[in-house]
Amino acid sequence: MKTLVKTAVVILLAYEVCSLCGPVNLSPFKPAPLSDEPLHWQSQHLDGNFVPDVVCASHIISSVAENSGLRNELARFLETKFGGMKNLRTNPHLWSLYLRLYDIFTTSSDGYPKLISFVDDHFARTGWILDAGAGTGTFSAALAMNAPARRFLLIDSSAEGLAIAEKKFRYLEQTGRPKEFTQFLIANLLDPPGFGVPVQAALMNNVLYSIPKDNQDRVLRLIYDSLPKGGTFILSDPSSDFIKTSYDLETVIHAASLEAFQNGAQATDYELALATYINLEVLAGKVPPFVSSNELVCKARAAGFKVKQMTTTLYYGINTVLVLEK
Ligand SMILES: C[S@@+](CC[C@H](N)C(=O)[O-])C[C@H]1O[C@@H](n2cnc3c(N)ncnc32)[C@H](O)[C@@H]1O
Repeated sequence: MKTLVKTAVVILLAYEVCSLCGPVNLSPFKPAPLSDEPLHWQSQHLDGNFVPDVVCASHIISSVAENSGLRNELARFLETKFGGMKNLRTNPHLWSLYLRLYDIFTTSSDGYPKLISFVDDHFARTGWILDAGAGTGTFSAALAMNAPARRFLLIDSSAEGLAIAEKKFRYLEQTGRPKEFTQFLIANLLDPPGFGVPVQAALMNNVLYSIPKDNQDRVLRLIYDSLPKGGTFILSDPSSDFIKTSYDLETVIHAASLEAFQNGAQATDYELALATYINLEVLAGKVPPFVSSNELVCKARAAGFKVKQMTTTLYYGINTVLVLEK
């Protein structure tokens, strides 16, 4: 009972903190649409045009969930080009496609910048921050924009993801940020070489779930070892507590994509349909099943971390976000 009350207080406090901090502005990092690349196939359902408005976006998103013909097309495209969704963990090119699509929506959404603001408030304004599974670097670039003296080590196994991240930092360098404040490391978190910089804080957003369950503890321990005593680590991962049915899942994806369109996201119907399909497949917990909030807390403690705060109010309420301390 005591623990329950404590958790409720922590969640309430976290909510208060978040309602105080405004979302960061990600508009400088909006990607060019993918339409100049050959991202299409012979489709009975899509025409390759930009999605003109949220009504049309809503129709396409619903079609992915409801129209088996369109779902078969999407599955066939991913199967032929990448060996299917089952290869998400092992095929960095499939991650790269996902990351490009991911940027179209995250940089225009409301939920993602709110999570970044939360992280921003918990990190010092200087020192090296490890972004484990940095993807396209939106998180680090926004944190760098808010505090230019912060330094970043971005690690990811997707070279294409980090190439997009580099473009964001090149943009910041035009405004005077020193190039040597950022390092990019293409590496598998399961087997990274030495980091080579004195890491003082770390973050890992939406990455742990894609690491096989048996190896997750190893990755958390590696991050623990990289930090000095007292160092902060923010761990955010989708939770099995929140996504229970395919209805929950579709509702979140629908809301997040529509919000992005309202805020100016630009995507063709192929891009929207593919992003929706990949998200549905990933979030259906097939790649691999998510852990619950409690399990995540246990994993963090087992790696040696103290749990300073937990919130489940950010990122559309589907992630557990832990503020941890070594
Ligand atoms: C959903 S994306 C999240 C990206 C970023 N953290 C963000 O919040 O925007 C997951 C990222 O984890 C990376 N990833 C997955 N498994 C990895 C591994 N074993 N080693 C390194 N990176 C990995 C993927 O390449 C991808 O960029």
